[in-house]
Amino acid sequence: MPNKEERYRSLLPQIESLVSGEADVIANMANIAAVLHDTFGFWWTGFYRVANDRELVLGPFQGPVACTRIPFGRGVCGTAWKEAQTVIVPDVHLFPGHIACSSASNSEIVVPVFQDGAVVAVLDIDSKDFNTFDSIDSLYLSRITSLLYH
Ligand code: SME
Repeated sequence: MPNKEERYRSLLPQIESLVSGEADVIANMANIAAVLHDTFGFWWTGFYRVANDRELVLGPFQGPVACTRIPFGRGVCGTAWKEAQTVIVPDVHLFPGHIACSSASNSEIVVPVFQDGAVVAVLDIDSKDFNTFDSIDSLYLSRITSLLYH
């Protein structure tokens, strides 16, 4: 069984070719969510897009039904948007203001998606296990999200 980094390494060119042939960003977000979800067996994998200067709105995802709107600066997603940087949460129950869309989620990573230097969306991944995400996820998920607007 390849380790996590090997799996990300082999996924990158596959995602690059999926995304480079399609200009529609929603279609590309949908396929990225599906590939990541299927490969790693996460609990919830998807995007929230910046709807206006106050809130995110649910975008393409895989997994259970989720909250549709998240205010700026709220929860892990709103924090990653506000700070314009990746947030890794080893135990969501300890994160102040965490928004529990599902009580089964125990750890989370949120990676901002940039267009011309501004955050236009976030990639949110939830795991049923604690301590799922680390700097390897952060590195490769940032590379993957950077393929969306280029
Ligand atoms: N837990 C997230 C909300 C989105 S769901 O996990 C799909 C948060 O705190 O921002």
